[in-house]
Amino acid sequence: MNRYHGRVVSVTGAAQGLGLAMARRFAEEGASVALADVNTKALSDAAAELTIAHHAEMLTDTVDVTDSAQVDRWIAAVTTGLGRLDVLVNNAGIIRDNRVEDISDLDWRAVVDVNLTGAFHCARAAFGHMRRQGYGRVINFSSMSWRGNFGQANYVAAKAGVVGMTRTLALEGARHGITVNAIAPGLIETPMLASMNGPAREMLTNKIPMRHTGRPEDIAEAAAFLGSEAAGYITGIVLDVDGGISIGSSIR
Ligand SMILES: NC(=O)c1ccc[n+]([C@@H]2O[C@H](COP(=O)([O-])OP(=O)(O)OC[C@H]3O[C@@H](n4cnc5c(N)ncnc54)[C@H](O)[C@@H]3O)[C@@H](O)[C@H]2O)c1
Repeated sequence: MNRYHGRVVSVTGAAQGLGLAMARRFAEEGASVALADVNTKALSDAAAELTIAHHAEMLTDTVDVTDSAQVDRWIAAVTTGLGRLDVLVNNAGIIRDNRVEDISDLDWRAVVDVNLTGAFHCARAAFGHMRRQGYGRVINFSSMSWRGNFGQANYVAAKAGVVGMTRTLALEGARHGITVNAIAPGLIETPMLASMNGPAREMLTNKIPMRHTGRPEDIAEAAAFLGSEAAGYITGIVLDVDGGISIGSSIR
């Protein structure tokens, strides 16, 4: 498949996990990819892999999405260096889990800043270019947790905020050929999930109707669809990619 030939796709948090899996998938389908992450070393390893495996046209930049000046410079570098910007994937995210009385100011702000404000910075920087092109796809990252999850008040607030922002930007983009959607992953095998282990993880896996965790490729598949021309009449949705866990209990 070469459906992304001639398209430019930007992915934040692209050095590992879901971001890297999506970058790989877009590159496989012929896209030029712009990878951004705070982790410079992991980013250069990711770029080396994509160059060797897919000969992808690529830009890599160390970008902290919480810093709007860095984001503005990055988006300008992408549109100048790769000529356009068709798909923006706001994937960068962090967790700092705790019960409410143990969430520090720092951990509240860090989680909201990266997961929600970071996505806002990137969307704001990209929107003008996409409007002028008359074409754009923004894919935000929420989480199955957005509906509420014990010990994650900061993360849930951010990921629910992503849903609200997605629906609002969808309204603002619709008349300009820009779609804005969100993916809400369930439990997917990435370094982020690896930080959760022991009984909590087992208990959660048992709650998944499909009884197994997801693979980064499952998310890449959803992103490759939402970012495509074929998904042009879909906007403002939250696509659950979670083995059915968001439906409710399947324990009997
Ligand atoms: N893995 C899961 O089970 C799961 C479930 C639900 C939602 N998600 C969401 O999916 C997205 C990707 O998760 P993942 O599992 O691949 O996480 P991960 O921790 O494996 O990767 C996240 C990447 O984001 C980068 N990053 C962190 N802060 C950044 C910043 N300020 N600026 C730029 N880059 C930054 C990290 O360096 C890392 O490369 C996140 O938004 C996460 O909340 C993941």
